[in-house]
Amino acid sequence: MSTTIYYFTGTGNSLKIAKDLKNELENANIIQICKHNMNINSDMQSERIGFVFPVYLRGLPHMVKKFVENLTVNTNAYFFAVASYGSYAALSFEQLHVLLQDKGVVLSGAFGIPMPGTMWSMYYPHPKEDYINRIEAQKEKTINIAKEINNKTIVKLQNIPMRASEEKMYKAFQPDGEDKDFWIDEKCDGCGICSKICAANNIKIIDKKPVWQHKCEQCLACLHWCPKESIQYKKDSLNKERYHNPYIKVQELFQKI
Ligand SMILES: Cc1cc2nc3c(=O)[nH]c(=O)nc-3n(C[C@H](O)[C@H](O)[C@H](O)COP(=O)(O)O)c2cc1C
Repeated sequence: MSTTIYYFTGTGNSLKIAKDLKNELENANIIQICKHNMNINSDMQSERIGFVFPVYLRGLPHMVKKFVENLTVNTNAYFFAVASYGSYAALSFEQLHVLLQDKGVVLSGAFGIPMPGTMWSMYYPHPKEDYINRIEAQKEKTINIAKEINNKTIVKLQNIPMRASEEKMYKAFQPDGEDKDFWIDEKCDGCGICSKICAANNIKIIDKKPVWQHKCEQCLACLHWCPKESIQYKKDSLNKERYHNPYIKVQELFQKI
């Protein structure tokens, strides 16, 4: 049975989940949701179609939303989603469900995995052990999710507590202009990693320095993966340890099909 898993990732958590799922599911492949792949608009072959993504401000990353909106799908496929999050999936499954419903299909499997939260203003500092426990627990959780997917489990979507405030928060999530608050300190050596890993192609290197182009997804990949830790966001990032998934290499974030 052929399976395609579309994933979006900033710090690598969702990519790690997507890779582990690929290994557990027969005849599976993974495709990054990124600017480079936004021209993919049809998947009529896959018998199972999955989406793996981080939760942003209680909902789907904007690029994931746009990608799913544009995708024509095999209406006989089994659809599943795996959300990686700091606290919970909130509105994200329901948002995806509505997008799929518009195509005449349903989201059957909706699974979540708690991972280190990467948005410090909300989640940092987590105790380090908590981070490590989550990272170590992820693989087994993913293996169990793969079993559910193999059984074509149908999961009833949960009620969303405090729905109105969650919706308000998601509505306020307008990351494009927020990138004006990134800045670089003197450690930046112009290596260009930030530009290569930006899923939104939002960073140009000009005069050996990153310049943000206001098409930001707020994934914080640039900040967390910068080898010199020279990218800062407002004052939130000062003197804070960076995070990226320890099982993912930075090169795996370079955009590709
Ligand atoms: C801008 C931003 C907003 C976030 N908002 C939420 C949220 O509302 N709820 C939540 O549980 N986690 C939230 N997180 C945490 C991420 O969903 C979580 O760390 C995820 O595992 C990151 O996955 P990635 O490594 O694939 O990017 C947020 C992270 C970022 C960067």
